[in-house]
Amino acid sequence: MRKRNGACPICYARTLVTPKERKIPTLYNQKVFDNGLCKTPPMGWNSWNVFKENIDENMLYEMAKAMKNSGLVEAGYNFFNLDDCWEAKERNVKGELVSDPITFPSGIKALAKKVNELGMKLGIYSCNGPLTCQHFPGSQGYEYKDAYTFASWDVEYWKLDYCHNRPYTKYAPLVAGIAVSEKGVKPQKLYSVEEGDRYGSAHIFTTKYPKKRWNSTQRFKKHCSGLDAAEGSIEWNISVEKDGEYVLTVFTHEVYYGYEKLLGVQVNDDKLYLIKIPADIRHWQEYITQKVISLKEGKNKIKLFNPINNNSTSDMLQFQYAGECIQQATKDYAAENGVEEKPIVFSICEWGSGEPHLWGKSAGNLWRTTGDIYHNWKSVKNLYEHNVELYKYADAGHFNDPDMLEVGVGNFSHTENLSHFALWCMMASPLLLGNDVRIMSDDIKEIITNPRLIAIDQDPLAKQAKRIVKGDVDVLVRPLDGGKTAICYFNKTDSNKNYIFKENIFENEEYIDYNSNGTIQNAITGENTTKDELLSGEIKARSVKVFII
Ligand code: GLA
Repeated sequence: MRKRNGACPICYARTLVTPKERKIPTLYNQKVFDNGLCKTPPMGWNSWNVFKENIDENMLYEMAKAMKNSGLVEAGYNFFNLDDCWEAKERNVKGELVSDPITFPSGIKALAKKVNELGMKLGIYSCNGPLTCQHFPGSQGYEYKDAYTFASWDVEYWKLDYCHNRPYTKYAPLVAGIAVSEKGVKPQKLYSVEEGDRYGSAHIFTTKYPKKRWNSTQRFKKHCSGLDAAEGSIEWNISVEKDGEYVLTVFTHEVYYGYEKLLGVQVNDDKLYLIKIPADIRHWQEYITQKVISLKEGKNKIKLFNPINNNSTSDMLQFQYAGECIQQATKDYAAENGVEEKPIVFSICEWGSGEPHLWGKSAGNLWRTTGDIYHNWKSVKNLYEHNVELYKYADAGHFNDPDMLEVGVGNFSHTENLSHFALWCMMASPLLLGNDVRIMSDDIKEIITNPRLIAIDQDPLAKQAKRIVKGDVDVLVRPLDGGKTAICYFNKTDSNKNYIFKENIFENEEYIDYNSNGTIQNAITGENTTKDELLSGEIKARSVKVFII
């Protein structure tokens, strides 16, 4: 951004033709969400894919018992997640979420206890909007409160959905000046906008106060506009005598009625604080707002601007905020009740629209990269196509989520179920079953408990497979712990194909550490196989071959 001090019409005109920054500002994206969880992708079961709104505490307990009795818990599926429709239609008088009094009369804490006794952790769902997708109370604006409630119920996984989301506004208020003071001390000095440095589209106007307005103090003669949509900023250098918390008072000059405003305060190019200004301000009213900020001894740069340049940035900041609330709430609940902290896995369900792979790691443990999965082959293939490209963004503690498994749901053939499962394992995806475990066939059980495929998914290196050949038959490679490599061929077509690959596609691939003398195992059957079989053969329609070398 260019610096712009004083009134310079040419500079201002230039800002109007400068292409707008579409990307999310990387600056706020650098922190890493770390709650110590999900070093490998989460595994478990979720109620949505099959049961939708038809859930209740008795049925779910039966399901949880079936998970245990069928050996799924032992195979690693240790989250038992409620999806939408567990809530009562209204919050209680304390503003807390409560479970549906008809379907969950014993409450979620009681269910969590039973689920814990079966060796699993309870997961829950709510939404980053005023309502959930199925129109139950949403968590937007209640992030900390709901996280605290969940912590008090021993919930250990939170899926936060995106329906009805209200993005942060791109509008900034007109800023008239600031003051910085210690707590308990009235500010000694007001800093006018003329004392600040202006950048980008920020520019100064003389404030015309209407006559005889009781609330027009006229303490500032000018104000700064053009702070909207990350296109302009104003900065002051302010010195304080010691490190600590200070009160930043921001004087805004509100002209237009009816628009919500947002102001970002960034201190020393680092921590970003958000100030929300409600829409209900009258014309020509001074509106004073405060934020407690941390400053260091000596000079501090205080920058004011609206950071929202697009919906990705809004999503990022909102989900980061929810993630901070979760971490704070589990700590607070533990400290206030003298119990051990149970951190909560944070699953961001933003559907990929705001490119969460670019910022998910700064906000949570996993992020949906796509819209919803359906139990049809086209859906599985589409989600795979999108998610496979994002391999760079996954690491231990942070995973791309192409949505839950449809294995054993609907009419998938054995081949389709197996391919879907193996591809999700190659992509280090969360393995969240959606099938009715009470009536699961042996074939489905065999697929979802395949120890070699699960071991690929759960490999401690936590690297998602990279696609090195894109064609009728895709080739995916994934580095595994201990110098091993997983190789997967996926025939995307509806007819059988013959494949012939040269070994150098693996030898020359830097993403893996391919050992041409290594033993080759068929990961699906567990049998050892030959290099000939690895490099050439027939692959059936819609099927996969997976090798571990
Ligand atoms: C959205 C989510 C799904 C599911 C439903 C519940 O569509 O993406 O995974 O949670 O809401 O209503």
